[in-house]
Amino acid sequence: MDVIRVVGGRPISGEVTVEGAKNSALKLMAASIMAPGVTTLQNVPNIADVHVMGKVLKRLGAKIKVASAHELVIDTSNVSKWETPYDLVAQMRASTAVLGPLIARFGRAVVAMPGGCNIGARKIDMHILGLEALGVHFEIDHGNIHASTPDGLHGAEVALEFASVGATENLMMASVAADGTTVIDNAAREPEIVDLANMLNEMGAKVRGAGSPRIEIEGVGVDALHPVEHRVIGDRIEAGTFLAAGAICGGPVTVRGFDPEHLGLVLKKMEAMDISIERGDDWCTARRDGPIRSVDIQTLPYPGFPTDMQAQTFSLLGLGDGTAIVTENIFENRFMFASELVRMGAQVTIEGHHAIVRGVPHYSGAEVRSTDLRGGAALVIAGLEADGYTTVSNIHHIDRGYERFVEKLQGLGADVARVTVEGTEE
Ligand code: UD1
Repeated sequence: MDVIRVVGGRPISGEVTVEGAKNSALKLMAASIMAPGVTTLQNVPNIADVHVMGKVLKRLGAKIKVASAHELVIDTSNVSKWETPYDLVAQMRASTAVLGPLIARFGRAVVAMPGGCNIGARKIDMHILGLEALGVHFEIDHGNIHASTPDGLHGAEVALEFASVGATENLMMASVAADGTTVIDNAAREPEIVDLANMLNEMGAKVRGAGSPRIEIEGVGVDALHPVEHRVIGDRIEAGTFLAAGAICGGPVTVRGFDPEHLGLVLKKMEAMDISIERGDDWCTARRDGPIRSVDIQTLPYPGFPTDMQAQTFSLLGLGDGTAIVTENIFENRFMFASELVRMGAQVTIEGHHAIVRGVPHYSGAEVRSTDLRGGAALVIAGLEADGYTTVSNIHHIDRGYERFVEKLQGLGADVARVTVEGTEE
């Protein structure tokens, strides 16, 4: 198995460029199903999750070519199946993003129910309730959701109980094919939602209000759509991860290729932690000269603090000058990595979805295990500061969402390497 080995205590500084956003690219790939023909996506990250979405599309009948680095050409002309089986959904729950596009194109879909995953239950009841309001009929048997539209799709007013990203995306895509207008209230406002709405509009859809809590979609029918070329927005979470790496070692680290506005609250919290942040149109620099100030954070839907930056920020707070409370409101199992951080000397008490983090002066290198994608990155970041060697195993989690993570850290001067050792991953 491969592990990441970090020699801590080295300064890191310099510049790094992020790839396109994982959470955008996956949904834009799914959206390509809606317009038969050749869609070209630029700035697609070369990560394991994108490969899984590629397999999902191929299973449906699409052809995919990597035209040049980070450019995917997806031909959906011959997509003729509407079934996404459990072996793929189990690998990546974001594969349920094909539900809306398949319903839009074929009026039907069969998608395996996602099971639990290492960060939580990841239910899809809100996707189902919302789509039912549009006229979709669901039957669930043998672990699969069968969607059909016996009377076609019609526009509806849907108020989401919670601003779910996945439910907003599936509803937005299905309602493009509905008769009449759909309104999604309490819609998710993530930048990736705006990216998807922009691509749908380029394809000929009429989506207004993305980025606000109320999205209006005037149904145009899939026949009105055409395939497009679209560039994926920069990955705000990858950017935040490298800023956290810079901050833990002092930096300065400049991250390019994303919109700092997409990291609004993360940057504000870093400043409150006495990390100095300089920002431009598509870059940001983090540096730290003094101690990290302990501040509380709680994850919330955008523009709140992203759950995907909780673990990396936790690693910083573990070295804070006092006590911080980290509250995770989105996923129930997202403190698992914290037990590994404790192996590195962190002082953490977990009480339900709150973690009480008492700062220690330094981490101490240890053998630790990635528990999930962001938790794995957070452990590597902690290793950069630690005294001695840290070995992070189960790094397939990190490969899901970070392209060339080790190489990029090496580019900043980190003493980090990917090495193959005896043993098996869990
Ligand atoms: C979530 C994050 C998103 C992040 C993505 C990848 C939020 C609000 N969403 O999106 O920013 O990019 O993970 O890590 O931070 N839920 C239900 N029923 C549903 C749908 C969701 O109960 O039908 C629950 C989920 O179990 C979870 C929460 O709502 O507790 C957030 O769900 P959602 O936003 O849909 O998750 P993702 O789309 O995966």
